[in-house]
Amino acid sequence: MKVTVIGAGTMGSGIAEVFAMNNNDVLLSDVSYDILNMGIKRIENSLKKFQEKGKIKSVDDVLSRININTDINAQESDLYIEAVLEREDVKKDVLSKIKSNSIIATNTSSISITYLSRFVKNPEKFIGMHFFNPPPIMSLIEIVRGNSTSDETTKKIIEISKSLGKTPVEVRDFPGFVSNRVLMAMLREAIIAYEESVASAEGIDTVMKLGMNHPMGPLELSDFIGLDVVYDIMNVLYNDTGSERFKPPITLRNLVYAGKLGRKTGEGFYKYK
Ligand code: NAI
Repeated sequence: MKVTVIGAGTMGSGIAEVFAMNNNDVLLSDVSYDILNMGIKRIENSLKKFQEKGKIKSVDDVLSRININTDINAQESDLYIEAVLEREDVKKDVLSKIKSNSIIATNTSSISITYLSRFVKNPEKFIGMHFFNPPPIMSLIEIVRGNSTSDETTKKIIEISKSLGKTPVEVRDFPGFVSNRVLMAMLREAIIAYEESVASAEGIDTVMKLGMNHPMGPLELSDFIGLDVVYDIMNVLYNDTGSERFKPPITLRNLVYAGKLGRKTGEGFYKYK
């Protein structure tokens, strides 16, 4: 199958990697070749680890199935996956530029699929395909149907998800779907506990890791997701629901304003070398 992945950041590069590992031909697109080459480098590093563990035979073989281009229409694909910034204006712009009549999936974490379907040519062929970070490791894909998404599109995307070795779960188009509705409320509460000095960042994370058996604490996880992404998602959920339980904490806002976005910039709630 031919797949175009738009956005070569944390998620887009991981999604491209998953499809290429499963013998699909991928076109990875972003706004510049510098960003695209960084995405390819990230994929290569990840593939090297898979090779060390014996999960793939050849890094070069997988990489040879990924082409890069700044033109999102450079290849006619069977599936387009949008993984650009979590901002309505950016997604709207990208979605409206796709010329193909094939299925378009969005990896949005929180923006309504029904809303975004207004900007594609065929709303019945538009669906949410919400991968988790890092896509090559995490087995869940939330499949989000918009009001116009057809049964046929849903069935096809479920089949494709299974062909990637993933577990698809169908959810309705409600703010945050299931994953981020529950996760963001928890991350917000952890950040507020940190603001109120209930415990240190390490203390809060240790409580959740050892007490709740979470593999990562909520502040560590926020840094891992990217604080800008967490902030954008909370803003969408807060605007959509009007509920205080998603109101972005000021500490989070200020870290984002200061460019401290977590692991990707070397500092967030923690410092990284
Ligand atoms: P990111 O910031 O790492 O990557 C976004 C990429 O989009 C950047 O490379 C940027 O240059 C590119 N971009 C911006 N405008 C563009 C345009 N007009 N055309 C092509 N590319 C463009 O963000 P990340 O974390 O990869 O998030 C992408 C999407 O995935 C968002 O919708 C986010 O909510 C969702 N997501 C993020 C997860 C995470 O843990 N970070 C988990 C699941 C979903």
